[in-house]
Amino acid sequence: MASVSPRFLKLPETSQLSLRDQICEVVSSAITSEALALDRPLPSCRELAEQLGVSRNTVFAAYNRLVDLELLVSRDRSGYFVAPQMAGLKKVSSRTASTPQQEVPCPVTFQTKNLMPIVNPLDWNAYPYPFIYNQIDPDLFPVDGWRECTRQALGRKKMTVWASDSVESDSPQLIKQLRQRLLNTRGIYANEDEILITLGSQNALYILGTIFAHSAKPVALEDPGFFGARNAFRLAGIEMIGVPIDSDGLIPSAIPAGCQLVFTTPSHQFPTMVTMSQQRREELLQTAEAKDFLIIEDDYEAEMNYVAKSSPSIRSMDKTGRVIYVGSLSKTISPGIRLGFIVAHRDIIREARVARGVMMRHPPTIVQEIVALFFQLGHYDSHLRNIERRYNKRWHTMNRAITKHLGMLLRTDSEGGTSFWLTGPDGFDASELTRRLREKGVLVDRGQDYYLKNDDKRSFRLGFAYVPVSKLEAGVEIIADEVRALL
Ligand SMILES: Cc1ncc(COP(=O)(O)O)c(C=O)c1O
Repeated sequence: MASVSPRFLKLPETSQLSLRDQICEVVSSAITSEALALDRPLPSCRELAEQLGVSRNTVFAAYNRLVDLELLVSRDRSGYFVAPQMAGLKKVSSRTASTPQQEVPCPVTFQTKNLMPIVNPLDWNAYPYPFIYNQIDPDLFPVDGWRECTRQALGRKKMTVWASDSVESDSPQLIKQLRQRLLNTRGIYANEDEILITLGSQNALYILGTIFAHSAKPVALEDPGFFGARNAFRLAGIEMIGVPIDSDGLIPSAIPAGCQLVFTTPSHQFPTMVTMSQQRREELLQTAEAKDFLIIEDDYEAEMNYVAKSSPSIRSMDKTGRVIYVGSLSKTISPGIRLGFIVAHRDIIREARVARGVMMRHPPTIVQEIVALFFQLGHYDSHLRNIERRYNKRWHTMNRAITKHLGMLLRTDSEGGTSFWLTGPDGFDASELTRRLREKGVLVDRGQDYYLKNDDKRSFRLGFAYVPVSKLEAGVEIIADEVRALL
């Protein structure tokens, strides 16, 4: 019997899979889309190898893999056939996601149009100088260590742990590691029922927005401040009030009466990077008691300090249960794993757990287990030391380059973190600067987006975590040329 023509089995133009796996993908999708008849043999290994320009052994290995998966059967002297049980399979339509669909106007409008989107291009890493934020340098990531943890976490014996529905609970291993190796470095001693794992701190803020939305009282936030917090509260329908900051951080005396919550980023104020002084921290706690509000302390990048030691967290100073601490593993492990956590009074955590359960039940257990092992086996501590050292070097290189080339701008003093905040004189348009720099292959974050009213265009931010140290000064020089042209 004539075999199926090999000509319509084509490898994808680009793929990250091995050749064997690409053939498996092509043949298995031909089976599920009914493109292969049951009664005709597949092209022989020789025919398909010639058609695809690969070795016969590769096709042989792919066919045998599909036999193991019971998608194909091998018949003596007749070749490989689609397995008979595949005949009963519900077939997928040959229409693909890229088939154009007729556009119809959406019949409803949404409130998300009022949110501040993340404006960086998706291909940001194709730019020669991506001075953007919340991305890590993959060259610094301990891939082998991560792979080891992944392999161990995925062990067959552990399957009931990670494949089961954990309902609303978190990985006890991860909670234990966070308590022992992370929270105590911030002076925080919390019980298990005072901690909730989230999908990054963004999800933590969304959960908090949800559980505090019932109150009619507003939230006060730093202005300029973290758009991720603003978006979360805006989506929850909570009124927001901006609070100014100065070189010591948020100004407690400027917090109006009647707020239910105050959101702050004391370790490195977002986006200016100033560190809240010890005196301010104490003043903020006192004001919280006097004016009866809770504090959300977003302690991202607390570990990255190169000039002075990290200040104690506000949560560690709190004797009244008013501080809700939000942490993230985005900067220290990677933003792609999407893990963060909330530490707060157990009643707040109980509410947050219920809200999280409605959203997702729990963050993927397998990711929690891998990260727990990453801590347990010592990779986290070793990686943290490594990135601290590398970012320290980049921070000082940037500091020098900014002093040398961008002295015409005001640089906000900071003690660490992974970015710098620069401000031009009155009338300076950093949004235009951002646009021009993009054409030159340089990405920077425009500051306008971080103001509650989007009304100040003078500032921009340079994140340096992704740019190698050897390219930092050259990038700053390009920025300086464009700044001069705009002044
Ligand atoms: C102020 C602030 N908090 C938290 C984070 C981390 O967010 P996530 O944990 O959602 O990645 C970032 C990241 O850019 C940030 O700027």
